Amino acid sequence: MTAPPVDPAAKFDASRAAEYAVQSRIALAGYDACHELTACVLAASLGERAAARILVVGVGGTGQEIISLSTLRPSWRFVGVDPAPAMLQAAAGNLQAQGLLERTELVEGSVDDLPDEASFDAATLIGVLHHVPGDEAKQRLLASIARRLPSGAPLVLAGNHYRYAEQPFLLDVWAERWRQQGATAQEVQAKLGKILQGADPPASEEAVKQLLEQGGFEPGQRFFQSLFWGAWVAHRSAI
Ligand SMILES: C[S@@+](CC[C@H](N)C(=O)[O-])C[C@H]1O[C@@H](n2cnc3c(N)ncnc32)[C@H](O)[C@@H]1O
Repeated sequence: MTAPPVDPAAKFDASRAAEYAVQSRIALAGYDACHELTACVLAASLGERAAARILVVGVGGTGQEIISLSTLRPSWRFVGVDPAPAMLQAAAGNLQAQGLLERTELVEGSVDDLPDEASFDAATLIGVLHHVPGDEAKQRLLASIARRLPSGAPLVLAGNHYRYAEQPFLLDVWAERWRQQGATAQEVQAKLGKILQGADPPASEEAVKQLLEQGGFEPGQRFFQSLFWGAWVAHRSAI
């Protein structure tokens, strides 16, 4: 399916970047658990490898992937890409505060801007795929990541799936989550309006696995779920 492109820099502008660290932890109950488990998954996959190089796609906002991974594997190095300058800047501030910028290269742009070679040991794509409109563009992004990984290398893919409008009960639960965290009735309505219009999640877990396969990965294994959100680890198919 082709869909009109979205400019991530406009969607993830300065005002969204400023509120992202707080809002993302409300929108996704278990934001930190998902990142902590992502680090555990990649550490278990790569073992004690001292000099692993990790590609973090859509690193903007918090840089949390790098913070969580560094806690478990202090010698790993990172390349983080994100096309939204304000989100990248917010992540850079967090990483600097944690003393992680010297082990991290931040690139304003897309995966396609990186050298087209399998020079990474693993990759993450957290909270990005449902913001990429259309299956074709989703596949292209996954394939672009796959080309930068050797056979068997792990990718953690996390993000929303399911067609929101087809899951009224989950939407009700999600609205209660915002109320629980102090949102007014008007703010909750605004959040519901935004989620219903603003993203294009894969329709099901099967759709996620199909996208992974078409992009050059094995179907993947789910290790985390929170309402619409899922997280999978998938390995690069044999080249
Ligand atoms: C919801 S945020 C997730 C940030 C972070 N990964 C996290 O876990 O908090 C999505 C980020 O993906 C970025 N993004 C959108 N499309 C992208 C693409 N095609 N390639 C890389 N990053 C993209 C956005 O600019 C935004 O910073």
